[in-house]
Amino acid sequence: MCGIFAYLGPRQASTVLINGLRRLEYRGYDSTGIAVKDGTIQLHKKVGKVGDLETILPTQVPGHIGIAHTRWATHGIVNDSNAHPHQSVNGKVVIVHNGIIENTRQLRTSLTVQGVELQSDTDSEALAHIIERELSVDNNPEKAVRRTLHLARGTWGLCVLFLEHDVIVCARNGSPLIIGQGDDEMFVSSDPHALAPYTHRVVFLEDGEIATLTSTSMKLSTLKGKDFNPSITVLEEDWGESELGEYPHFMLKEIYEQPDALRHCISGRLDRVQGNGRLGGLELEPRDLGKVPHVRLLGCGTAYNAAEIGQIMIEKLARIPAVAHISSEFRHNDPVINPNALHFAVTQSGETADTLSAVKEIHLKGGSVFGVVNVVGSSIARECGKGVYIHSGPEQAVASTKAFSNMVAALSVFALQIGRSRSTSKERGKQLINGLQEIPHLIEEYLENQGPILEAVEMIKDAKCVLFLGRGISAPVAKEGALKLMEIAYIPCLAYPAGEMKHGPIALLEEGSPVIFIAPNDHVKMKTISAIHECKARGARVILIHEKGDDIANEADISIPIPPVHSLLSPLLTVIPMQLIAYHTALALGCNVDRPRNLAKSVTVE
Ligand code: G6P
Repeated sequence: MCGIFAYLGPRQASTVLINGLRRLEYRGYDSTGIAVKDGTIQLHKKVGKVGDLETILPTQVPGHIGIAHTRWATHGIVNDSNAHPHQSVNGKVVIVHNGIIENTRQLRTSLTVQGVELQSDTDSEALAHIIERELSVDNNPEKAVRRTLHLARGTWGLCVLFLEHDVIVCARNGSPLIIGQGDDEMFVSSDPHALAPYTHRVVFLEDGEIATLTSTSMKLSTLKGKDFNPSITVLEEDWGESELGEYPHFMLKEIYEQPDALRHCISGRLDRVQGNGRLGGLELEPRDLGKVPHVRLLGCGTAYNAAEIGQIMIEKLARIPAVAHISSEFRHNDPVINPNALHFAVTQSGETADTLSAVKEIHLKGGSVFGVVNVVGSSIARECGKGVYIHSGPEQAVASTKAFSNMVAALSVFALQIGRSRSTSKERGKQLINGLQEIPHLIEEYLENQGPILEAVEMIKDAKCVLFLGRGISAPVAKEGALKLMEIAYIPCLAYPAGEMKHGPIALLEEGSPVIFIAPNDHVKMKTISAIHECKARGARVILIHEKGDDIANEADISIPIPPVHSLLSPLLTVIPMQLIAYHTALALGCNVDRPRNLAKSVTVE
């Protein structure tokens, strides 16, 4: 989704900006642009990738101050004029903006009445014109931005470049912005990951704050005009190696990184002697956990699917109600919040606007929320204050793989911890720990012998629709499989709990319809077999993910065995062949595996 990068300092700004944009690319975008000041302001923007922008840049873009943007269209179609930066009428102000200005129609109308000819269909452009107008009042960049933002309603992460001032003013309201402090140079980014090559000393702007930056100074104030001192955070967690290495795509690399990522996630968090989980970041004692009335988990997309698995594990081990909610629905249903309940915000990026809003809704109603987050220091991690980092390392492919696994693993450790404080015996706890510690090795074993994935790809790649079915803990895994295939291969997919198939999706089945079943060797397997028979009786062809050595393989047209696994942890194994099926199908169809159309890695608008 939209990304911002800005620079002030001794280096050539255009080079730093292009590098910054490259590190934002993984988030998904449709156009890019930069503006650099050197006496005049040079502005270049273009639909397409950062590489496309580079092709239109002159060999020399002199200047040491600049702002840059990757756009993911919200207001206005994808074209060059809607790309950022946007410039004011007289060219004195140039802005890049993330977020959505809700009263854009009103602002644009009033500008048109004043004779301003708008150049784009965006909500952002209006801000540039208004800032220029306000600048004419007192020629004070910070005050001009502040007055403008008092007129705007909505969300923003904003960077403003001025023709006549050697400063960048930035502001945040609901859309992340981080200032990176170097030696006599200053950086701004919407994503801490993009700052990592330059500095680890950062200031996270909070909602309602404005920063006025030069290369050597940082002045912070609130929207109301109150100055305050910056609080510098040193980012300890490095994203580590995020290059492709020997892999053709990030998605494949990240699928293969799952065993090690899982080792990182569970390391130091399991107490083998007591058969217990140990998530120190929650700061919850057994006596606190014993009193919890229920648990709610929030997430979007893949994170929601992981939350549904967490829900099942928590109920099974702790015998208290747990429920997963889609974040974007949560706040709008005016949920009743019990301050004694536990809430979890599950998110890879820690920036998903829908999940952040849900967290704020719970806070507003007196509840507390724990983050289950990958990106250290992200907005949701900070808003929650406490939680669990899932330690997947950088996930660059838009389709999530290793973050999903680590969300499930982190939630299983929590389920164990709350379970042990209530109804789970030490023996059962130890079995789960053994199971969990075996998983990385079992995934490695599976990856060495993946089964007939390419045969499965042949069966589904030209299908009108692919149905994914699983029961119990495999029902959310079916959803995750369908989401992956739809996201990157653009095949319409439907996921259902297998028992519900006969109440609707069965109508879709005809001779040759592909159906993917997930049927590990658990207590609902026999029920799943009935659904397999029902499908086959209508001519469907069955791809079956099952445990090695299980007779259920005879039910399949294509059988994909996984190593036998603890039944509560089966999602960590059964999801892997589905990730591979999605990956290879997308490749077979010539799709862009890592950057699927229209999707964004981090969705920072509601
Ligand atoms: C976007 C991505 C999905 C992701 C979802 C939630 O829709 O395309 O892959 O699962 O956001 O992201 P989060 O960062 O909150 O886990």
